[in-house]
Amino acid sequence: MMMEYPQFRMLEGTDSLYAIEGPRHAVEFQPLGSTEWLVHAHFASDYPRFVWLQELREEAAQSKAISKEVFFERVHARTVRESSSKLGRFSAAGIETLTLESNVQLKPLTTFGVSSFTRHHTLVRSDEEVRQALMAAEQSSWELLILGGGSNVLLHSDWEGMTLQQGIKGMEVLNDDGNCLEVVVGAGESWHDLVLHAVEKGWNGLENLALIPGSVGASPMQNIGAYGVEVKDRFLWLEAVNRKTGELHRFDHAACEFGYRESIFKQKEKNLWVIVRVAFGLERNAPLHMDYGAIQSELQHLPPQEITHRDVSEAVMRIRRSKLPDPAKLGNAGSFFKNPILDPKAFQEVLSNHPNVIHYPLEGGSFKLAAGWLIEQAGWKGKRRGHCGVHDKQALVLVNYGKATGHEIWRLATDIIDDVRAQFGVELQPEVNQIRVS
Ligand code: FAD
Ligand code: EPU
Repeated sequence: MMMEYPQFRMLEGTDSLYAIEGPRHAVEFQPLGSTEWLVHAHFASDYPRFVWLQELREEAAQSKAISKEVFFERVHARTVRESSSKLGRFSAAGIETLTLESNVQLKPLTTFGVSSFTRHHTLVRSDEEVRQALMAAEQSSWELLILGGGSNVLLHSDWEGMTLQQGIKGMEVLNDDGNCLEVVVGAGESWHDLVLHAVEKGWNGLENLALIPGSVGASPMQNIGAYGVEVKDRFLWLEAVNRKTGELHRFDHAACEFGYRESIFKQKEKNLWVIVRVAFGLERNAPLHMDYGAIQSELQHLPPQEITHRDVSEAVMRIRRSKLPDPAKLGNAGSFFKNPILDPKAFQEVLSNHPNVIHYPLEGGSFKLAAGWLIEQAGWKGKRRGHCGVHDKQALVLVNYGKATGHEIWRLATDIIDDVRAQFGVELQPEVNQIRVS
């Protein structure tokens, strides 16, 4: 199917250009003198602007369709003086042509460090490059794999299609009322760098999520969480390019259907979107989250009224360094399994046979079990098998000692799943995305 978006238009009688990216999104290039552009990104959040954009699309606003080639020829004829869109839509940085590489080793692009070649690979830096990559994949019938930081994937084999690595950078403060901020961040930014930057600036709310590897764009995929906070607690909206139509669409909080390590992008909307930017609501006076026992013990030497958001982020980093392996030294993808959630009846059955099982009551009456405890009790903690094994400080983490293959790690994972089922009657589900050629 041909891409429906973007559509390129020119306002008759002027030199103004529009790249319409979806029913609610357009980028306007407004001439400034004879050599420069002012670039505005428009999101039609209210009805009048939606109608304006619809009219622009339907030629009711004296605009005419132009080809992509004419659009970019005209854009290149001037320089961009000022842009309200620093996040790589159609800004000066965003109109280069896609670079495609062949037979790229993905081992350094993923934290598990498994050897796997991709036939075609591209790093995208703008929405436009995302669309170019989608077109290239569609025209050649290449199966597409989106990669951020590669910290939550296990590659089972070579990838025979195309990998699109998200590299859209940038950050903008869209609103700041003195306490609350709306901050939008390019999907290709590093998550941990965002957290450090926010802590530095006093934009609080993300500090418990320090040191989680990966990209900003992947953070809503599984609603990343740690130490009592999940990304959904600070998420406002995201924008994503539709993999079939090229349309840019905004998903608000409700539309993402967040759950524990879940979102709509792993369920109903799986493999349909490329997330290009994410907006967060941060607060200078955000409450501190210190319920987690380990954070309390880390900070017990400080007078409670003096504890800052930076203290919490540093405590979280110390705790994480003490038990999670550093992927730069030992390949891993964090927790390999989710903590299982059981209904009250199933939980009572496990509890009656294993009174010490570590569990947490959830709203609605169900219970979450500590999968790390189940795996440790089943005797797997610290076990090495071939080139892979179970981490000796955190049994939820499978590790690659250097030469493990995806198959080898998956065989270990399935043996653990079988064993935990046999010993506890509990079914473990992988948390890490299993990447297999379909
Ligand atoms: P990738 O691994 O590149 O991709 C993950 C999935 O998202 C893939 O299916 C991919 O196709 C898809 N995807 C990625 N980017 C996009 C995009 N822009 N658009 C559409 N789809 C996309 N996670 C936690 O929640 N909490 C933790 O405490 C935590 N600790 C970790 C500790 C370690 C040492 C490691 C290695 C991992 C840990 N993780 C944790 C898991 C991981 O860091 C997160 O899931 C992270 O969000 C993955 O980001 P990524 O950019 O590396 O995604
Ligand atoms: N436990 C054991 N043995 C182990 C590991 C854990 O008995 O080998 C017990 C601990 O003693 C503790 C309980 O299990 O009582 C929970 O352990 P921990 O606090 O380490 O957290 P977790 O449930 O194992 C989850 C997330 C982590 C996140 C931490 C901190 C999942 C699947 N994992 O781990 O996320 O960092 O909580 O909030 O929810 C990830 O998703 O990749 C990840 C690392």
